[in-house]
Amino acid sequence: MKQREQWTSKIGFVLAAAGSAIGLGAIWKFPYMAGTNGGSVFVLLFIICTLIIGLPILLAEFVIGRRGKSDAVTSLKKLAPGRKWHWMGWMGLGSSFILLSFYSVVGGWILSYLVRAIFFKLDITDHSELFNSIIANPLEVLIGQAVFMVLTIWIVQSGIRGGIERASRVMMPLLFVFFILLAIRSLTLDGAMEGIRFLFVPDWSYLTGKTLLMALGQAFFSLSVGVTAMMTYASYLQKEERLGQSAFNVSILNIVISLLAGIVIFPAVFALGQSPAEGPGLIFVVLPAIFNEIPFGALFIIVFFILLLFATLTSSISMLEIVVSTGIRNKYERRKRAAWMFGILIFIVGIPSALSFGLLADVKMPGGGTIFDFADMLTSRIGLPIGALLISIFAGYVLTTAETDDELRMHPLLNRSWKFIVRFIAPIAIVIIFIASFIM
Ligand code: PFF
Repeated sequence: MKQREQWTSKIGFVLAAAGSAIGLGAIWKFPYMAGTNGGSVFVLLFIICTLIIGLPILLAEFVIGRRGKSDAVTSLKKLAPGRKWHWMGWMGLGSSFILLSFYSVVGGWILSYLVRAIFFKLDITDHSELFNSIIANPLEVLIGQAVFMVLTIWIVQSGIRGGIERASRVMMPLLFVFFILLAIRSLTLDGAMEGIRFLFVPDWSYLTGKTLLMALGQAFFSLSVGVTAMMTYASYLQKEERLGQSAFNVSILNIVISLLAGIVIFPAVFALGQSPAEGPGLIFVVLPAIFNEIPFGALFIIVFFILLLFATLTSSISMLEIVVSTGIRNKYERRKRAAWMFGILIFIVGIPSALSFGLLADVKMPGGGTIFDFADMLTSRIGLPIGALLISIFAGYVLTTAETDDELRMHPLLNRSWKFIVRFIAPIAIVIIFIASFIM
């Protein structure tokens, strides 16, 4: 039987965890959610939810994962023998399955834009029209989604290490540099300040239970928390890594990239007279317009979409990784077949989401949205919060303090504060937010 892998370097785990976290959540979803939920209030709630609830639960996943050293189901069985907690692992598998089914659709859009940027010029005037014509074209979206899934499968089948670790070291910082440059350009457009006001000056009328749940879901989504993905990654980890530090770094980085994405998008939205509530197409409509305003924009946009594709892939592989590692349950020789089998299945399940903006645009699901919206709602607003709730209860009550302290190895005061949060604050807050979203 093949040996279980471990990360090759100390930085490997942090890169992989950050790679899983930072992706479409911060760059695509955050601006579009902020835009459709009133901007600043959503931004504020997102930051609070990330720090007070997301970060401690991310740490909880790290603790459980490293303690269990297996796929989520096996780890949970090991840590709570004879009890039903391993169902949480199956639930995580279900959530990541659905997540990836629509995440890959957006991955496909990125490929579409990349191909267009390489072979055609994107310096057109009506970017909304281009986006709408792409997402409404069944063949194009399905090919995009299929190619994106093949790339994801191809990386996952060859194991967690190697190329990804090395490539992350170059690609992620480069993406960051690009964002800084784009932010500068966007901020210097005429009328840019309106966007900054939208992002940072609160309009309290948006403070509702629904916005709160959206912000909480966004925090979990963008930290990859609540589906046992981070648990699975931490299971490949050696004992020396300082989990608290890693969880903190990933959370802060995630907030920074999300805000940066907002600072790139919204000033341009207002300066160029577009709508902040554009929806899922927001970044695809706005970014090419910003590149049009930059010297050598046509070249830079190609590089940018390659970097964005990379960031998206480092997230999608973590979703497929949970499904595969749970599916093969320590039988590592089955990895390759499982990656293809599950990957293809996820693609098939994602087809209706891909067609949600064209052929199936008129199909309305419970909640009033399209199939794509429904898949997102099922995960971001139901699956992830419930998963996160269970994870925090598991870390707070099932693992003993001696066990968690042994993994955390932080200052005793920090250990105790964390325990208090996962026992009381996080679970109570999640339940209250969940209930509030129905009544206010
Ligand atoms: N955190 C990823 C992003 O923001 O793009 C999405 C994600 C990846 C969610 C992996 C959940 C997960 F297990």
